[in-house]
Amino acid sequence: MLSTIAKRQFSSSASTAYKVAVLGAAGGIGQPLSLLMKLNHKVTDLALYDIRLAPGVAADVSHIPTNSTVTGYTPEDNGLEKTLTGADLVIIPAGVPRKPGMTRDDLFNTNASIVRDLAKAVGDYSPSAAVAIISNPVNSTVPIVAEVLKSKGVYNPKKLFGVTTLDVLRASRFLSQVQGTNPASEPVTVVGGHSGVTIVPLLSQSKHKDLPKDVYDALVHRIQFGGDEVVKAKDGAGSATLSMAQAGARFASSVLNGLAGENDVVEPSFVDSPLFKDEGIEFFSSKVTLGPEGVKTIHGLGELSAAEEEMITTAKETLAKNIAKGQEFVKQNP
Ligand code: NAD
Ligand code: LMR
Repeated sequence: MLSTIAKRQFSSSASTAYKVAVLGAAGGIGQPLSLLMKLNHKVTDLALYDIRLAPGVAADVSHIPTNSTVTGYTPEDNGLEKTLTGADLVIIPAGVPRKPGMTRDDLFNTNASIVRDLAKAVGDYSPSAAVAIISNPVNSTVPIVAEVLKSKGVYNPKKLFGVTTLDVLRASRFLSQVQGTNPASEPVTVVGGHSGVTIVPLLSQSKHKDLPKDVYDALVHRIQFGGDEVVKAKDGAGSATLSMAQAGARFASSVLNGLAGENDVVEPSFVDSPLFKDEGIEFFSSKVTLGPEGVKTIHGLGELSAAEEEMITTAKETLAKNIAKGQEFVKQNP
């Protein structure tokens, strides 16, 4: 039997050798996300890719004194292949952000083909990596990646994730603002998808089940449309980048913790889910326990209030369309 010290040494060496690739690393999210991944001690090899500037971002980030190698690539000299080969986790924030007046779905025409092409490269060069999609519209880009990986025969539903962590961070923060509490002790489960009415906070499962109706309604609206606050405030210069980098780094860190075999690693994520598959909804965000193979357990929604049941029904209608749009795009534009 291994001694406690030997076990600790074994588990620490098993959990400190991951290659992480960031595609879109020179963007508003990509840069701070790359910085935060450089600070993650489980990452030994950080590979940054963008159609512009990634070598500069890599040179900058590489001076931070943590024990990882940072490389930066552009499309020249097989940059994407070099970025992806050997990656354990690929994070994709490549694509255009919203401007005021746009919905996330308005980004589809530009981002669908960017994500499709990057997914093809993932299928070719890092087919067994975990893949975390940040690029919007997440409700459609995740199905796009799934279809591309299926067409290459390398789709692993346990390793494809839509990043919805920002909705959960916002929910905690906004609830804590209403209650005058510490957001760290206000966990809120958020399920569904990542856009407007598909974002469904389950406040009945929080510590504050009995909020006055006007407060409840305003809070739900703020959680569902929190992204718009940032888009409006940035006034044409983009959408959430810094809070998203924090959310993406938290999610990535949890994926690595899961791969490393740590216990009880739970994050919300938009995944290939059995929850509403019989209704034709193949992807849904709920709490997921992460493990060495990626998704370990997909949690159910738990007990819902009548208002939450209604929001789920509305969310499912939009989700079905968003998912079908992504799948159809790949069929029409393989
Ligand atoms: P940005 O324009 O600042 O950065 C995007 C980067 O992607 C740019 O550096 C660009 O050069 C790069 N890029 C474009 N095409 C590429 C390609 N084919 N290969 C590699 N890189 C490519 O945008 P941003 O603010 O960083 O946002 C990126 C995406 O993330 C947007 O679609 C945005 O809507 C989305 N987003 C998602 C969430 C979420 O919660 N999931 C939150 C915020 C933003
Ligand atoms: C967000 O939630 O902040 C992102 O999805 C970006 C956006 O377009 O709002």
